[in-house]
Amino acid sequence: MQNYDKLIEMAVSARERAFCPYSSFRVGAAVLCSDGKIYTGCNIENASYSATVCAERTAIFKAISEGADSFTAIAIVGGKKEISDFVYPCGVCRQVLSEHCAPDLKIVLFNGKETKLCTLGQLFPFSFGKGDIK
Ligand code: THU
Repeated sequence: MQNYDKLIEMAVSARERAFCPYSSFRVGAAVLCSDGKIYTGCNIENASYSATVCAERTAIFKAISEGADSFTAIAIVGGKKEISDFVYPCGVCRQVLSEHCAPDLKIVLFNGKETKLCTLGQLFPFSFGKGDIK
């Protein structure tokens, strides 16, 4: 099995930059590209709450805007004070990931102690995508 320690470490560092004065819930993400490059993101909240962007979308949008187009894994960490529970991507982020990543994208969850692995396809089956617009 691939070792995702570096990816997790980068998600942990990105989490420190979370801008979350409304929820105090800090999230970090790091997306791994097929060529080995890593892009990180944190959640960035807004006084107009719906303008908030999650850590996962920050990371993937940064990657895409820099020309990356092939992704193998995304690590996600979160929690208020400490990294506590496994934080799964929200529904909007699952939809965004499904636009740019294959169903075998590894989702790497770290709760501060243990790592859990699943795939995007497991978390977001029967999704709506570009092939459905006819
Ligand atoms: N959040 C993320 O960044 N990613 C997730 O997967 C879940 C939720 C953020 C959004 C908001 O800033 C805060 O966590 C509380 O919902």
